[in-house]
Amino acid sequence: MADRQPVKILGFCGSLRVNSYNAAALRAAGELLPDGMTLETFDIAPIPLYNEDIRAKGLPPAVLAFREQIAAADALLIVTPEYNYSAPGVLKNAIDWASRPPEQPFDGKPVAIMGASPGMLGTARAQYHLRQMFVFLNAHLLNKPEVMIAAAPTKFDDQGRLTDEKTREMIGRLLTSLRDWSLRLRPSE
Ligand SMILES: Cc1cc2nc3c(=O)[nH]c(=O)nc-3n(C[C@H](O)[C@H](O)[C@H](O)COP(=O)(O)O)c2cc1C
Repeated sequence: MADRQPVKILGFCGSLRVNSYNAAALRAAGELLPDGMTLETFDIAPIPLYNEDIRAKGLPPAVLAFREQIAAADALLIVTPEYNYSAPGVLKNAIDWASRPPEQPFDGKPVAIMGASPGMLGTARAQYHLRQMFVFLNAHLLNKPEVMIAAAPTKFDDQGRLTDEKTREMIGRLLTSLRDWSLRLRPSE
């Protein structure tokens, strides 16, 4: 790894809640980065609701910043809750804004997904809906490991720290796989 540029990942979370389990899982990822990987995060809260009339007048600053940061990253880490068996509207909305031509920044981008839910399926259905969106956007989704954090209240403490060792290990494996996947897909210098 020493001779290579680090893999820069951009993480963003599909929950705007202060005490979000998913935001906590993204923070945990920042503690579990393998060698040769850096993480920056983007807060999607300031992104307005998608409106083609607004787009026609110019992209809002939050959308421009989001698109630029996606384009500048080597890979993305999306941490999503599950709402009504799918991805939350705020997350879909942010992806919709970023995805508009020209030069939609998801094209060819390595992407990993994980998510946390109080329920037993740990966002499985939301994650599969996200994967479907990224087929159209031609991103390169990491297949495995899948990180679906079920029964979330038993895995985080009151300060929002991920305390479950197995889950920490899984996130570490996901990050290592995303690093290696990104290096495989990295254009040769
Ligand atoms: C509108 C809405 C729909 C939800 N639907 C689901 C669901 O389909 N599956 C699930 O496991 N949890 C569902 N939940 C519960 C969320 O998983 C729970 O609120 C979770 O804590 C949200 O993630 P966060 O802690 O990161 O904010 C839903 C919550 C909301 C607000």
